[in-house]
Amino acid sequence: MNTTTTPVDAPEQLFGALSEELGPSAVLTGAEIPNRNCKDWHSLPQVPLAVIRPVDAQGLSSAVVECRRLGLPFVAQGGLTGLCGGAVPEAGWVAISLERMTGIDEIDRAALTMTVKAGTPLETIQTAADDADLFFPLDLGARGSCAIGGNLSTNAGGNRVMRYGMTRELVLGVEVVLPDGTIITGLNKLLKNNSGYDLKQLFIGSEGTLGIITRAVLRLFPKPKSTMTALCRVDDYGAVVALLQSARRDLGPLLSAFEVMWPDFWETATTRAGVRPPLTGGEGFYVLLEVQGTDQQIDAPRLEYWIERTMDLGLVSDATIAQSLAQTHDFWAVRDTGELGRMIGPRLSYDIGLPVSRMDEFATNCKASLGLQIPSCQSIHFGHIGDGNLHLFVWVPGSPAGAQPKDVVDGIVYGLVKEMSGSISAEHGIGSFKKKWLGHARSEAEIALMRTLKKALDPDNLLNPGRVI
Ligand code: FAD
Ligand code: LAC
Ligand code: ZN
Repeated sequence: MNTTTTPVDAPEQLFGALSEELGPSAVLTGAEIPNRNCKDWHSLPQVPLAVIRPVDAQGLSSAVVECRRLGLPFVAQGGLTGLCGGAVPEAGWVAISLERMTGIDEIDRAALTMTVKAGTPLETIQTAADDADLFFPLDLGARGSCAIGGNLSTNAGGNRVMRYGMTRELVLGVEVVLPDGTIITGLNKLLKNNSGYDLKQLFIGSEGTLGIITRAVLRLFPKPKSTMTALCRVDDYGAVVALLQSARRDLGPLLSAFEVMWPDFWETATTRAGVRPPLTGGEGFYVLLEVQGTDQQIDAPRLEYWIERTMDLGLVSDATIAQSLAQTHDFWAVRDTGELGRMIGPRLSYDIGLPVSRMDEFATNCKASLGLQIPSCQSIHFGHIGDGNLHLFVWVPGSPAGAQPKDVVDGIVYGLVKEMSGSISAEHGIGSFKKKWLGHARSEAEIALMRTLKKALDPDNLLNPGRVI
C-alpha cells in the first residue's frame, strides 16, 4: 500500500490533483463538508477528511485510485437512510458520495428493464416506471431519500417482498468500481444468463464493502391495473397467522403486502403520535394488506368477498378498504414510521427475521426481559410479517441518541433471536451496529469465507473497513 506523509490537516492540498481532474465542486473539505455526509439515519455524526462527489464511474474510479495512493479508507454514500451505520465515515476517512450520479439512462420496454445511475432516488425510479406505464415494485418508507445504489448494496426489502422478492431479485446487471479502481461494466439485460459466475451478487447486499455500484439494470413489470389496500383488525396473533395463510391461499398471486402492527405499535402511533386511525375502536393487531391485480371490476369484488368471509370465520373483527388514493395514503401513514419516529425521538431499531408462527412469542418474551432489566424502557413491534421480518423499536424516553442502552437491549433481542434460529438482520444489514452479533446468525465457516472474499477484492482493507465482518 502506498502511503503519504502529507499532513491531513491540509486536506484541500491532499486532493488538489483530483479536484483539478473532477472539478472543484467534486471535492469538499473542511467547512465545505455538509452535515448530511457525516451520518446516516440513526448514527452520531462523524466528520470525514473529505467528501468526493464524482459524476460518473470514471471520476469515481479516479477518486478510489487517489484514496488508495494516499492510503486513506473510503466509504460509499447513497441517500444516507441506512439504519446500521454502514455509510458513516470515520475521522480521517473519505466519503465518496453518489449524490451527483443521478438519472435514468434507458427504459427498454421490450426487455422490461431500466438502466439507472446508482445515486438516483428510489422514488424517481418508481415515478419514471409509472410514467412509462410500467412498474418498479421496490418500495420502502425512505423512498424519497434513499438511492438505488444504497438499495442494491443493502439488498433492501420493504413492503412488497412477498410478491416480487428482495432487491436482489429485481436486478439484472451492475456497473461497479472495485476497491483498486477497476471499472467492471456488467450491465446485463438478459433474464437468463448463466455464462459463468453471477458477479453482481457479490456487490448486492455486501453493504459497500466489496465495490462501489455506479449503474444498475433493474427489472420492470407491467403496471398493475388495480391496487387495493385494506386495513383489518384482528383480535389475537393466532388469527393473524391464519389470516396470512388464508390471504396466500385465496388471494393467491394478487397479494403484494401483508404488514402487521402489534397493539403496542398501533396505540403509540394513533394516540401518542397523533396519526389519524383509519379504523377506530378496539385493541388488537392491525393488518395492512395490499392487493394488485389486472382488472378492477374483477379484483375489487374478489377482495371484498374475501374480507367478508374472513369476518364470517371470525378471523377479522373489523375491516375497511381504501376508496381513494388519499385514503390509501392515510392507511400507510399509520404504518410508515414518520410521525411516530418524530414523537419517539432517539431509539434503537431492529429488523429481525423469525419464523412467522413465533413472532408474538418473541414480542412477549422480549418485552418481559426488557421490563426486568430496564424498567423505564418502552418497545413497539411491527413489520413485514408476510416475509418473516419483525421490526422492533426500543427506547428510554428522554435519553439522548448515544445514551440509549444499546448493549443491554442488543443482548436481549439477539439472544432471543439466536434461541429461535432467527436472523439478526432481515433487511437493513449489519453495518457497524450489528457486526459484533454476526456470529449469532452465521457460522464461523461462513464468516471466514466472507473474509476471504473481502481480502481477495480489497487486500489493503480500505473500502468501508471494519463494516459487516
Ligand atoms: P446509504 O444509507 O447511503 O448506505 C447504506 C449502505 O450501502 C452503506 O454501507 C453504504 O456504504 C452502501 N452504499 C451506498 N451506496 C452505495 C453504492 N452505490 N455502492 C456500494 N455501496 C453503497 N430498509 C429496508 O430494507 N426496508 C424498509 O422497509 C426500510 N424502510 C425504511 C424506512 C425509513 C423511514 C428509513 C429511514 C429507512 C428504511 N430502510 C428500510 C433502511 C434504508 O432506507 C435502506 O437500507 C436503503 O436501502 C439504504 O439506501 P441509501 O441510499 O440511503 O443507503
Ligand atoms: C420499515 C423500516 C423500519 O419497515 O424497515 O418501516
Ligand atoms: Zn422494514
